[in-house]
Amino acid sequence: MNQVYEKLQRCYENVRKRTGFKPKTAIVLGSGLGDFAETIRVADEISYGEIEGFPVSTVPGHAGKFIFGYVGETPVACMKGRVHYYEGYPISDVVLPIRLLKLMGAEILFLTNAAGGVNTSFQAGDLMMIKDHIAVFAPNPLIGANLEELGPRFPDMSQVYDRELQKLIRLTAREHHIFLQEGVYAQLTGPSYESPADIRLLRMAGCDAVGMSTVAEAIAANHMGMKICGISCISNLAAGMTANKLSHKEVQEAADMAAPNFRKLVTEVLRNIGHS
Ligand code: HPA
Repeated sequence: MNQVYEKLQRCYENVRKRTGFKPKTAIVLGSGLGDFAETIRVADEISYGEIEGFPVSTVPGHAGKFIFGYVGETPVACMKGRVHYYEGYPISDVVLPIRLLKLMGAEILFLTNAAGGVNTSFQAGDLMMIKDHIAVFAPNPLIGANLEELGPRFPDMSQVYDRELQKLIRLTAREHHIFLQEGVYAQLTGPSYESPADIRLLRMAGCDAVGMSTVAEAIAANHMGMKICGISCISNLAAGMTANKLSHKEVQEAADMAAPNFRKLVTEVLRNIGHS
């Protein structure tokens, strides 16, 4: 058997020894959304470290676990913490959790992250619904033998972010008077932030927000036929757009400040997904 698939199966068996929980929606919590988990009626929790072979983050503030439970009536699996490619994990490990959540039953993937604003009309603290992404600056997680059990060799990518979920997010934001930008997210590998010239290049390419996650996960989820949506929390304007230098601490603090609206929007969207 393929090694990537074998590892996935082993992780799945590990998890199934611990819980029979079947999520409808999986959500990946980015910076600033960590305490979103408090709004969940928790049914079960599993630390990533308890799952044999599962990638565990080395970044401060990203120590991870799965939280299984309910938002309204919706059964959700929540990833508190994720590993990033820049930590040195193979890209197949970065997307392993997403594949695992699909095997557990999740049909919908809700991706969140903190991102740098590239669009000049954005401000720190804005929320941006992801309408499309730029994948060409990061490694493709489907490289290697195709996992036929999961999806096709050459998956179509013409509508990665589900139109109906986008409509739901827009409506939910309006209903709760939450200002929502929309745009294109680009994943770079990091861990260094971009240079001002990188940012000008990205802007010319039609990018609105930049970060170090999410696109690989979206590609793997799309491969498996999941419905995908995503929201970025614009924690800062990207390099060269202000006089400030970028620091991880400041990015995290800004993401924390925008967190209440972010949490509200994500909670209400998840609740509404239960009715859709
Ligand atoms: N660049 C890349 N990743 C980020 C940024 C940024 O400006 N802000 C938060 N994550």
